[in-house]
Amino acid sequence: MKILSIETSCDDTGVTIFEAKGGARNASFCILAHVVSTQDIHAEYGGVFPSMAKREHIRNLPVLTELMLKKAKLSGTAKAGLRHEGRRKKSPVDAIIVTQGPGLEPCLWSGIVFAQELAKKWSDGEKKVPVIPVNHMEGHAVSVFARPKGKFNITLPKSKFPMLALLVSGGHTELVLWEDIGKFKILGRTLDDAAGEAYDKVARMLGLTYPGGPKISKLAEEARKDLKGKPKKLGLRIALPRPMLHSKNLEFSFSGLKTAVLYAIRDMGKLTEQKKKKVALEFESAVAEVLVHKLAKAEEKYSPKAIILAGGVAANKFLRMEIKKFFKGKTILLPDKTLTGDNALMTGVAGYLEYLKDKKKSISAGGISAKGNLSL
Ligand code: KG4
Ligand code: ZN
Repeated sequence: MKILSIETSCDDTGVTIFEAKGGARNASFCILAHVVSTQDIHAEYGGVFPSMAKREHIRNLPVLTELMLKKAKLSGTAKAGLRHEGRRKKSPVDAIIVTQGPGLEPCLWSGIVFAQELAKKWSDGEKKVPVIPVNHMEGHAVSVFARPKGKFNITLPKSKFPMLALLVSGGHTELVLWEDIGKFKILGRTLDDAAGEAYDKVARMLGLTYPGGPKISKLAEEARKDLKGKPKKLGLRIALPRPMLHSKNLEFSFSGLKTAVLYAIRDMGKLTEQKKKKVALEFESAVAEVLVHKLAKAEEKYSPKAIILAGGVAANKFLRMEIKKFFKGKTILLPDKTLTGDNALMTGVAGYLEYLKDKKKSISAGGISAKGNLSL
């Protein structure tokens, strides 16, 4: 079946059209058109403004969908007000998948309303185009199996489960036991800031623009290079805490770490490039140490068949490296570098698997409501 997938949970407008075949345990996908438009209007504000992001999604969605339909060589229009004049008025796709949550509610609504309007426009007396709501975090978890181009297969026999997923993004930090298709158990999550959020806030303290993760990561990498063989070169001593490292549970907390960075910066006088590098290095090390430590604790307890690292922060080179180093010999699954951030391919794949699992349940009979705090 041909599917249009829409992702608008935060500041990325994602539109993907793909063809999917097969059962949930052995599905094959062929990407027909795929785009992510990242909103750069938030850069100078240090974070995402929901109302501005929503406005951008509303502006982007029809334009991007129109472009993707053309790229996929499908007839039909996504433009508001225009009647669907496709070949014999047939819908260009068999279903629409849309992110229901978690995320920023105004943004989620923009995707949901757009998906529902399209479904109405593309349905006729004979055939109704279903709208399938999907959980954004499930999308991140399955992103490790997706490929950004062409065709790929996903085989998920029962024997591949359970998997242990560390999902780290701007809004979430969760340790999840993935017990089977569509079956997740949250083992621990952050009590305050998400890891990506802490990255963004520390970046702001250092005068860097949003999103801060990639910029801090770059500075930290430079610091590591500077330090190679010259351990005293960066001089300055900064001792940052490792919040909840020794707590018995699998919860996280990053707000104290962020405050410790704030105090360290306050006490160091003029912020030079060298000092920024040192802060970035120490902060990145502290975050990675806590994440790896908790992941190891969960791994020991649940003996998963594979370890997944996904979400925006999974782009972090140092974290990827530390996890590979620590869990040497185990199966580590990481998303393709172009699929760590939000995109409609990962949510489309998750939505298709959910749809196969329970067709009736996954198709919304009435309307879909945005759920900012939707849990796995
Ligand atoms: O999953 P995502 O694209 O959006 C949400 O669902 O929140 O994650 C975005 C987050 C931002 O906080 C961003 O700073 C962080 O991922 N991020 C990174 C890196 N690239 C993006 N954090 C650390 N290192 C990176 N290289
Ligand atoms: Zn995300």
